[in-house]
Amino acid sequence: MDINAYKAKGKINNRHLLTLVDYSTCEIFEILKLGQHLKFLLNKGKKHTYLKDKTLAMIFAKSSTRTRVSFEQGIRQLGGVPMFLSSSDIQLGRGEPISDTVKTLERYNVDGIMIRTFKQSDVSDLAKFGTIPIINGLTDDFHPCQALADILTVYERFGKLDGVRLAYFGDGNNVANSLMVAGAKTGMDIVICSPKSNAPNAEIVAEAQKFGKVTLTESVDEAARGADVIYTDVFFSMGQETDAKKQAQLLAYQVNTALMEKAEKHAIFMHCLPAHRGEEVSAEVIDGPQSVVFEQAENRLHAQKAVMTLLMK
Ligand code: CP
Ligand code: NVA
Repeated sequence: MDINAYKAKGKINNRHLLTLVDYSTCEIFEILKLGQHLKFLLNKGKKHTYLKDKTLAMIFAKSSTRTRVSFEQGIRQLGGVPMFLSSSDIQLGRGEPISDTVKTLERYNVDGIMIRTFKQSDVSDLAKFGTIPIINGLTDDFHPCQALADILTVYERFGKLDGVRLAYFGDGNNVANSLMVAGAKTGMDIVICSPKSNAPNAEIVAEAQKFGKVTLTESVDEAARGADVIYTDVFFSMGQETDAKKQAQLLAYQVNTALMEKAEKHAIFMHCLPAHRGEEVSAEVIDGPQSVVFEQAENRLHAQKAVMTLLMK
């Protein structure tokens, strides 16, 4: 199915956004199309209060700039109310079970929960023990909201997704995992280029490969050849210890001008941010003309507003 042939229906069957693994291609297209529509309405200054008076609780066990601000602004623009809950300030941080947390929040008429945490099982447990929609705002394993914003950015740039080649360089982390799943499901050609020791989780790779074209390679030349999109992320994700050996291995995969020159002339550079200039990417590339990192950051807002609308309406 090609996104350009897809007719939006205004609904999806999923009740949560946990990983995207359980999303159909059509459901992902539905989010992208609604995201574009909401972006259009916002830019035209048109009201779009689809979630009037709904409350989104936002639980953060890790730091955030983009996720926090885009969800807060997003729910407000939709007519709803954000409730920021740092896990170190609520009883969850002192060991209260996730099941009791969700059951309690529901009693106060919270309409949905966005959570950024460590274990993926905490996100699925919220969905299992509660009845309200749960949105994964990043775990050690996945970052589905980021992948949706990224794919929206690619779609805007190239006018298509089918056959667009995205080469990801560096650590096979949560961002890489979600890109593999979302990219494969939307017809993209995803290549993950990393040393074998930092390749993405084999089970997630196998899962993504069931849906579409996902390949792994250690060769920078092979990955960059024909690439329309060059993507990278930090060497060390939140919660990981820095490690000199891993750092040295990953430096060989740094996205710099020499690497960009191996890709297509029209190639764009992407990074979920925050970035470490001089580590996974050179300043010249991330601050250069091919970089679309702030378009990605902006699209977090539009894609997530679509997710909230479809799940919480
Ligand atoms: N990309 C992203 O999730 O950024 P934050 O960590 O700032 O939320
Ligand atoms: N892989 C990074 C992404 C940050 C948005 C992390 O998990 O820290």
